[in-house]
Amino acid sequence: MPQGIPEEIIDEIRQRTDLVGLVGEYLKLERRGKNMVGLCPFHSEKTPSFSVSPDKQLFHCFGCGASGNVFSLIMQMEKLTFPEAARFLGRRSGVNIPERRSVSPAEDDLKERVFKLNHLAARFYAYCLHNTTPGKNALEYLLKRGIKQETIELFMLGYAPADWTGFFNFARKKGVSPDLMVQGGLVSPGREKGHYDRFRNRLMFPIANISGNVAGFGGRALEEGEKNGPKYLNSPETPVFDKGSMLYGLNLAREEIRRSKKAIVMEGYTDVITAFQAGIRNAVASLGTALTAEQGRLLRYQAETAVTAYDSDSAGEAATWRGLAILQASGCLVQVAVLPEGSDPDSYIRQYGPESFVKLIDNASPLMEYRLQQLKRRFNLASDQGRINYIEELMPFLMAAVNQVEQDFYLKRASEELGVNEEALRSELKKRRGRSGRYREQEKKEQPDEQEKITARPEEKTIISLMLQSKEIAEEARNLLQLEFIEDPKIREVIEEIWDLSAGETVLSAEKLLNRFEDQEIIKLITEAVTKPLWQDLPPLVAKRNIEDSIKKLHKNWVNKKLRVLRKKRESYEAQGLLDEVNKLLLEEQELLFKKDGDPYR
Ligand code: GTP
Ligand code: MN
Repeated sequence: MPQGIPEEIIDEIRQRTDLVGLVGEYLKLERRGKNMVGLCPFHSEKTPSFSVSPDKQLFHCFGCGASGNVFSLIMQMEKLTFPEAARFLGRRSGVNIPERRSVSPAEDDLKERVFKLNHLAARFYAYCLHNTTPGKNALEYLLKRGIKQETIELFMLGYAPADWTGFFNFARKKGVSPDLMVQGGLVSPGREKGHYDRFRNRLMFPIANISGNVAGFGGRALEEGEKNGPKYLNSPETPVFDKGSMLYGLNLAREEIRRSKKAIVMEGYTDVITAFQAGIRNAVASLGTALTAEQGRLLRYQAETAVTAYDSDSAGEAATWRGLAILQASGCLVQVAVLPEGSDPDSYIRQYGPESFVKLIDNASPLMEYRLQQLKRRFNLASDQGRINYIEELMPFLMAAVNQVEQDFYLKRASEELGVNEEALRSELKKRRGRSGRYREQEKKEQPDEQEKITARPEEKTIISLMLQSKEIAEEARNLLQLEFIEDPKIREVIEEIWDLSAGETVLSAEKLLNRFEDQEIIKLITEAVTKPLWQDLPPLVAKRNIEDSIKKLHKNWVNKKLRVLRKKRESYEAQGLLDEVNKLLLEEQELLFKKDGDPYR
């Protein structure tokens, strides 16, 4: 049972939250029969296998097995624990969750408090931008760069004052503890005493997560020079801020990304802002690091194509390439737009206008094509070493190809460029695949710990499914089924919970059952049981027959297993000449054999 929050409250939130609407906030759904389907947000795919049942309020992906209800969805989408997800949905549906009586404030509350603090900080910085003298200078700078007042407000831009305790003092007055400010990455403890602001005399860019909550900040120095620190300073890692799993602007861009199925990936905050203001509303920026698989997945939820528009100087860097390969490996079609030397999207749009920029994007080359061109330019293919280097750098990209067709296509192209046999390249590729590709490994590591797999027999699945369809069948099963027939303790647990639920309820709700579990494997088992078409809507008599047959089969299995054990034991007694023991076991075996063939329930 999820800790802390009363079951009635969980139910209330569940009833007020429509799964279809909730899923629709993350991805596009289309009707198919009784269900809605879309591209699964939890794995990369080209054809939709993510299915949402409006009647049952459950989702299930036939591709990767992800499944669950509104809470599971939010837990997985927003990377929250159950109580956090409940609070998230509680806020959304207007259900108030009473404060916990627990002694120590738990970690999930911490995230929420950091979000609140960040919101307070964003408001403070925005206030300073508009209402203080140095702030007005910063505002002047923004306006001069062509960023309009309404854009400044939309992106919640601000100014962090130069004195060392501007924000600290403000937040203290609002009753925020210094400790929380430190945990939120907004202030640092002084070396001797007191605290000081992390962001000083900087233009502030609040960085929102996909739901629009401020997770952290980027701060741009307004004056150059060593004593002013780095040009951009970001929030440190906090309970809610992880640079590698966020994209700047995604909360604003996601609508247009979803509509156009295309995302433009830029480098800088200012690039995204200028683009947005110019009507290019599907742009996001990574936060000063190479792209990660996590970011790739974030984009993959909404976009088919990701076009990168990087500054020309960073486009050649190894880290950039790796990031693009990772993006490609996450399932996006990656294209590269080439900007003229010395331009970034911000300066390009201001200089040549949005139409010209859109043309650049439309003319972007597929990643692999661009890669081949670059390699050809870099290495001297007339020399052996040049060809070796070329192949060395090419391989990881071939391995990250979107599909076989693409891989074959570029393998052929590369072999032509190199003047080597296509088969030779192919076998080189195979060798590397055997060592398991670098990108693949990296992706694996980022997966959460695997939960122990459940291996359910078909009969067990049938039983769970049918029990969830009617209280009567659940009762019937209760009379016939002995839990020892079931090997996997997790499955036993599910069945026990069903009985527990059916004792109190008039109608059994699978969804309610789900709320009693946090184990993804169990959630998957239950969801599959209630969504698999094969088992749905059977006439009561057929359902009854089915459940009886399934239980009989399980019983038979159980008897056979016991028999095997007895037989082994008996044989060992026989070998030792312990005849009394042997006779005892023979009797036991006979009894079991009789039960197996006769009806054990009479
Ligand atoms: P303007 O110079 O104001 O146009 O900003 P810009 O976005 O063009 O800056 P630049 O191209 O130098 O940097 C692009 C992105 O890289 C920024 O938005 C930051 O996210 C990141 N970045 C740049 N400089 C630094 C730095 O010194 N430290 C860190 N952590 N990130 C940086
Ligand atoms: Mn710039």
